[in-house]
Amino acid sequence: MTAHPADLAPDSALDPFASPDDAGAAVLRRQRDRESSARTYARSFPIVPVRAEGMVVEGADGRRYLDCLSGAGTLALGHNHPVVLEAIRRTLDSGAPLHVLDLATPEKDAFVEELFATLPRGLADRARIHFCGPAGTDAVEAALKLMQTATGRRGLLAFTGGYHGMTLGALAATANVAVKEPVAGIAADVTRLPYPYPYRCPFGVGGQAGARLSAAYTQRLLDDPAGGVVPPAAMIVEAVQGEGGAVPAPDSWLREMRRITAEREIPLVVDEVQTGVGRTGAFWAVEHSGIVPDVMVLSKAIGGSLPLAVIVYHEDYDGWLPGAHTGTFRGNTLAMAAGTATLRHVAREGLAGRAAEVGGRMLDRLGALRDELPVVGDVRGRGLMLGVELVDPGGEPDACGAFPAAPRTAAEVRAACLERGLIVELGGRYDSTVRLLPPLVITDEQAEAVVDRLADAVAAVTAPRLAGRLA
Ligand SMILES: Cc1ncc(COP(=O)(O)O)c(C=O)c1O
Repeated sequence: MTAHPADLAPDSALDPFASPDDAGAAVLRRQRDRESSARTYARSFPIVPVRAEGMVVEGADGRRYLDCLSGAGTLALGHNHPVVLEAIRRTLDSGAPLHVLDLATPEKDAFVEELFATLPRGLADRARIHFCGPAGTDAVEAALKLMQTATGRRGLLAFTGGYHGMTLGALAATANVAVKEPVAGIAADVTRLPYPYPYRCPFGVGGQAGARLSAAYTQRLLDDPAGGVVPPAAMIVEAVQGEGGAVPAPDSWLREMRRITAEREIPLVVDEVQTGVGRTGAFWAVEHSGIVPDVMVLSKAIGGSLPLAVIVYHEDYDGWLPGAHTGTFRGNTLAMAAGTATLRHVAREGLAGRAAEVGGRMLDRLGALRDELPVVGDVRGRGLMLGVELVDPGGEPDACGAFPAAPRTAAEVRAACLERGLIVELGGRYDSTVRLLPPLVITDEQAEAVVDRLADAVAAVTAPRLAGRLA
């Protein structure tokens, strides 16, 4: 989720603390009063989770919710999956040290074996891994530093709508203006390129034509001696933009990015922090296009709900000095055990295929919703990474027919979903896209319930307005 002014000044209709009367009210109040104003999800979801299993979260007040946020896409197997709990318990009972810096351990060995078995062929055979501080953003920092070291260059190519984290290098690569603006000037040397986004096409043409223009523009810019772009250390890209609003890049466009970067000896970094481990319907999102990146940035699901982040990269780039990207918390034994169990389970049970299948059905139903409700401007996604972009159908459409974003409606829909026992978060431009990131273990019945509740919430929020307009 990205910060939007609407979130900073909620009115009383959206204020979750207006009449706190449930069992967790005191906890909510204390945390609201003591935590920083940058707290994020806690603003949108005034619940105190006390129990969770699979896709279901139970609050202190006894209410149960279907969780379509899944720790911002972290929980591939949902909450407290038996194989994850078993791995954690086994490790605890074994007496293994829980903190080991980056020393060699059997748990790390098993994790690396399991992870490398999943990597795209072409990278796995000649890959190196670096364990980072346990957040996606630190792995992005590591990728950028490694590529700068390897190439001796400084700059970075990154995309509109991209999200790569909140530390300074990653923030420089991130596109959201509101979070960059207060700290601008300390950003690295980043050239922003247009990411294909058919609904709000950066070229105003939409469809595959927009993607073709993006590739042509990128190539010409890099080859233009007066284009202003000094040869960069890397290009960083998401195969499906997550926080950017569940926007999948066409496979052909990604192949173009691979060709353009390879021909110019620019390392290609694919940020799979959110797309990895089956989420998009393939184990890694790069598999859809068949490209082999030079670096993959991995976090979230690889830790099986515990914090873990790594980069895997081609051995040719392994030019760091010892300690070049060190850190205290790079050897979390429990996270490695939980991560190994998760990777193994997703692979063995074919859960990427399951994500493609269920996600496809959900997308079809959401498509029907778009045809029915004018406030639904676009539905899109891949696998179980879905987005429903809400718009103001009374506004002026742009050249491609896209209506203005509707952040207020989106915030109301999020609140209406919560009332209906559904946790969904917003993302994309102006925080107007409802994002669905259910766990890969979602049942058919739960998938139906998610779409039913979302449809009901959208209808409930928009019906009074429509009635007002007709009156
Ligand atoms: C694609 C991508 N990269 C990097 C990050 C940053 O990860 P973290 O929040 O663990 O720092 C995120 C987080 O949502 C992400 O979606």
